[in-house]
Amino acid sequence: MDDNERITAAKADTDEELQEVTLRPHSLDQYIGQKKATDNLKVFIEAAQQRGEPLDHVLFYGPPGLGKTTLAGIIANELGVDIRITSGPAIGRAGDLAAILTNLNENDVLFIDEIHRLNRSVEEVLYSAMEDYALDIIIGKGPSARSIRLDLAKFTLIGATTRAGSLSAPLRDRFGVICKFENYEIDELMKIIDRSSGILGVPIDEDSKRELAMRSRGTPRVANRLLKRVRDFSQVKGEGVITPEITVNALEALGVDEMGLEHLDRELLRVIIERFHGGPVGIDTIAAAIGEERITLEDIYEPYLIQTGLLYRTQKGRMVSDLAYKHMGLPVPDDISMTEEGEDDGEQIEID
Ligand SMILES: Nc1ncnc2c1ncn2[C@@H]1O[C@H](COP(=O)(O)OP(=O)(O)O)[C@@H](O)[C@H]1O
Ligand SMILES: [Mg+2]
Repeated sequence: MDDNERITAAKADTDEELQEVTLRPHSLDQYIGQKKATDNLKVFIEAAQQRGEPLDHVLFYGPPGLGKTTLAGIIANELGVDIRITSGPAIGRAGDLAAILTNLNENDVLFIDEIHRLNRSVEEVLYSAMEDYALDIIIGKGPSARSIRLDLAKFTLIGATTRAGSLSAPLRDRFGVICKFENYEIDELMKIIDRSSGILGVPIDEDSKRELAMRSRGTPRVANRLLKRVRDFSQVKGEGVITPEITVNALEALGVDEMGLEHLDRELLRVIIERFHGGPVGIDTIAAAIGEERITLEDIYEPYLIQTGLLYRTQKGRMVSDLAYKHMGLPVPDDISMTEEGEDDGEQIEID
C-alpha cells in the first residue's frame, strides 16, 4: 500500500502540498513548538541582520510533516529575502545547480528538500558554493580543459532531510546550524488545530481539539489532515460545527483509533501477539505474515509504534509491550518481560 493512502501518513503528496499553503504559518510568531530550534534561530537571524550578512547554512532533520519546509519559508520571511525551493532529486546535474545558484540574489535563501538525495557530482559543486560562494567550472575537454571560478551572491542554504544519517560527512560539516525536529506535544498540536480551524472557518471546542491532537501521531500535517476530514463530517452530518461526538464518529469512520493507529498498525501488533506470542520475532517474518515489504514496515509503521512504546526493537527481533496488549483489548500475559534488551543498531544516527 502507498503510504499516502493512509489518512495518518506523515508525507504529503503534491496536491496536498499545494493545499497546505493556506495553513502554513508565515512568521515565527505563528509557528508553534520546536522551541529549541526556533529560539536559537531567532538569535542567529537577528545577528545576521545586524551584520548585514547572510544567515549561516542551516540543516533541518526529522520525520516528515513536522514543519521543516514551513520553517524554511519563515526564515526567509524574517530575513526579508527571497526563497528558492527545490529538492535533491530535482537537481539532476551539476549544471542544474549552477543555474539555480547563479540566479540567487544577495542573502537569498536556497531551500533544498531531501538533500540526502543529491548525487555526488552535484554535491561537490555545492561544497565550494557553500564555503566560498563560488563555482568552479571546467571549460573544454581533455588537455585544453581549464577551470574558471565564478563568484556567486552570498546566500543561505537550508537543507532538509528525513535521514540525517544518509548525509555525507563533508556536506553535513558545511552547515553552521543543525536543527533536529521533534514530534509535537498534545498542547502544541491543539494550538495548531485551533489556528487551522480558524483559517478554515470551522468552530471547534477544546475537547474535540484534544481528541484530534491525540490521534495525530505528534505530526502537524496529520493534525491538519484529520481536521479537514472531520470538518467534512461536521458539515454533512452535523451543523458545520465540530463537536466531540462528530470528531469521534468521523475518526472511527476513517479507521483512526484513540492513539492514531490505523488498520495496518493494529494488524502488525495483532500478528506479533497472536502468531508469535508477543515476540521477539524478526522483521522479515512479520513482513511476510502481513504481506508488506520490510522497508515499508521500517520506514512507515514502526517509528510511531516504537515512539509510543507499543513496540520494541531488540537484538532478537521485534517485541510488543504490555501497552500493546492493553491497546488491542487483549489480556496481558504474566510472563511478558519488559526488560529492554538494548536496541539493535537500527539506522538512527544522531548528529547533535
Ligand atoms: N510549527 C507549526 N505550526 C503550525 N503549523 C505547522 C507547524 N509545523 C507544520 N505545520 C503545518 O503542517 C504542514 C506540514 O508542514 P511542512 O513544513 O510541510 O513539514 P515538512 O516539510 O517537515 O514535511 C504545514 O502545511 C503546516 O500547515
Ligand atoms: Mg517538506
